[in-house]
Amino acid sequence: MLTKPPGIEDIFPDRIGRRDLIVDAAREMFRLYNFREIVIPVMEFTEVFVRGLGDETDIVSKEMFTFEDRGGRSLALRPEGTASVVRAYVENGEYNRLATCKFFYIGPMFRAERPQKGRLRQFNQFGAEVFGSGDPYHDYEAMALMDEIAKKSGMEDYRLLLNSIGCPACRVNFVKELTRYYAGRKDLLCRDCATRLERNPLRLLDCKQDSCQPLKKDAPRITSFLCAACAAHHAAVKGYLADGGIAFTEDHLLVRGLDYYTRTTFEFVTARLGGQNAFAAGGRYDNLVEQFGGRPTPAVGFAAGIERMELLLEEKPSLSPGIDLFIAHTGGDTLARAVAVCGLLRGNGLSADLDPASKGFKAQFKKADREGASLVLVVGENELAAGTYTVKDLKSGEQEAVPAGSIIEYCTSKLKR
Ligand code: HAM
Repeated sequence: MLTKPPGIEDIFPDRIGRRDLIVDAAREMFRLYNFREIVIPVMEFTEVFVRGLGDETDIVSKEMFTFEDRGGRSLALRPEGTASVVRAYVENGEYNRLATCKFFYIGPMFRAERPQKGRLRQFNQFGAEVFGSGDPYHDYEAMALMDEIAKKSGMEDYRLLLNSIGCPACRVNFVKELTRYYAGRKDLLCRDCATRLERNPLRLLDCKQDSCQPLKKDAPRITSFLCAACAAHHAAVKGYLADGGIAFTEDHLLVRGLDYYTRTTFEFVTARLGGQNAFAAGGRYDNLVEQFGGRPTPAVGFAAGIERMELLLEEKPSLSPGIDLFIAHTGGDTLARAVAVCGLLRGNGLSADLDPASKGFKAQFKKADREGASLVLVVGENELAAGTYTVKDLKSGEQEAVPAGSIIEYCTSKLKR
């Protein structure tokens, strides 16, 4: 038997109801917030992610699926969407120089992580990015939008964590202080953190190893190092959230695993996902457009993991919609009539299906049940002779003979009820 690679899923129809709930909620809220869809490629030159996310990040250093094309150039399956959206925005003349652009995207991402519950190698995200405004309102808007999508999807028991990691200018002093603090405790660090101390000290605050947790308690806090402009920005974001009635918890350890962030970082977390506690995350990245060759353009965005949200909605019933009508026949002329009425129903916007091979009514009613049909339309010899159909409501058990000419009106009004 051929099997799929680890960390990669098949998603069967029984999961689609719940996924639709999430994606429909996202699309609806994106529309209300005036975000427009952008479709970005699934693969890019590897350089896009190396430059975008930072070569010391876990994603770039160990989690990308890369391969060479026939010309020997390195390509990568996208591990996230932001770098691609920025590349597209800059490559297309900063989207033809519109003042503010609000994009959203939905699609698969790929990371060669160790698979476990909620951590996949191919997973799906929806995400949003705003270009062209450094106003704290847009940081708030990103969080408010994600909060509304979560609520609309039926999510409960989650928290919003907020931090500011400042700008490169104020971060220099913080990183110096952080390095000094951790250098004095070098012997207590896990192996990864020993490397982080050398290469990317900010990430020390992100370590998940138990042995490194006590060290974080007395570590310097970035919020005490913010310059006046970054502090004012952070205060304004918090003000907007408070005015908007969106609860948040400040978390000075929230530095995020990607290097492009400036100022605001945030995560939506829940205790119900074990190790993978974030189901959505984002922040501001004011320097990335310029780093990609564009004009200085502030930006902010977020992305959510659809499978993680799905796990959180698992206890809720997944309303996988059934069909409106199943058509039962006895073969021969009745099959021809069944095929004709099936086409007529579909043409009038009703979902309908039949099984051409099956002749026994018992088997066909069973199948109708399995397909979640609301009504069964019977075409037997009697119905054929009388020019009628027998329509049975599977919920109430009622059935009626309906003249062929009024079948659409009858079914439409019955289904509406
Ligand atoms: P991220 O935190 O790497 O941020 O991913 C965002 C979300 O994607 C996570 O909160 C999680 O729900 C989901 N996710 C990430 N990795 C996996 C995985 N291996 N399996 C399942 N779900 C996963 C970003 O991707 C940034 N681009 C967000 C952003 C947009 N920042 C600014 N704009």
